[in-house]
Amino acid sequence: PQAGELAGRHVLVTAGPTREPLDPVRYLTNRSSGRMGYALAASCVAAGARVTLVTGPTDLPVPDAVEAVPVETADNMHAAVFARVEQADVFIAAAAVADYRPARRETHKIKKDEAGSNVDLVRNRDILAEVAAVRPRPLVVGFAAETRDLEAQARAKRVAKGADMLAGNLVGVDRGFDQPDNALYVCWEGGDCHLPQAPKTRLADQLVQLISQRLSDAQTP
Ligand code: PMT
Repeated sequence: PQAGELAGRHVLVTAGPTREPLDPVRYLTNRSSGRMGYALAASCVAAGARVTLVTGPTDLPVPDAVEAVPVETADNMHAAVFARVEQADVFIAAAAVADYRPARRETHKIKKDEAGSNVDLVRNRDILAEVAAVRPRPLVVGFAAETRDLEAQARAKRVAKGADMLAGNLVGVDRGFDQPDNALYVCWEGGDCHLPQAPKTRLADQLVQLISQRLSDAQTP
């Protein structure tokens, strides 16, 4: 990104997976490494923004000049985001937030002979959709992790969640999640573009450029 494109802006980014505990030693999670969200945080700093990164557990170092807020569960992430969203000009939801959590979190380790074959799950709140419903609100940028029909699913998800912009990616065991490279399909109202396969650091720079463009379009009377 060009230095100064996001000067004076505060960007709030979510990254990484969430962990949804079953008991003190077990949890449900996903393959997100945090790379995409961390790369976005670094690109926003390079563009001159003040950046807060609400991050699920990852092995990554926090990028220079980024304020990191470590969280574990989707509920923790929701609370950390809503404590800060009022000050944000841009919200980027790159985290792979668990849609469900175990209905009960046992205080003690579940023993083999007490474990049934079913785990009851309850829905987690949708952080992206709730941020998009706040007024006044930041520019809201979501992601969509899909295994098929990328463009149609991404466009539908943008509208369903009320996001201004959405970056869709195809994901699988060796795709999207936990890889250094990715490819994105980005859509907004009245436009879209493909960002071809590239390192996530480069895709982050390109996405930040698109975001800066949307911010300045929004300000043009
Ligand atoms: O972390 P990496 O290993 O680098 O991998 C990057 C990535 C594949 C995780 C990333 O590019 C990505 O796609 N992130 C979003 C993953 C996801 O949860 O997608 P989704 O289609 O399930 O969710 C759609 C959007 O809603 C996302 O912006 C998500 O952050 C948000 N969401 C979802 C559920 C929820 N309860 N709250 C949310 O905010």
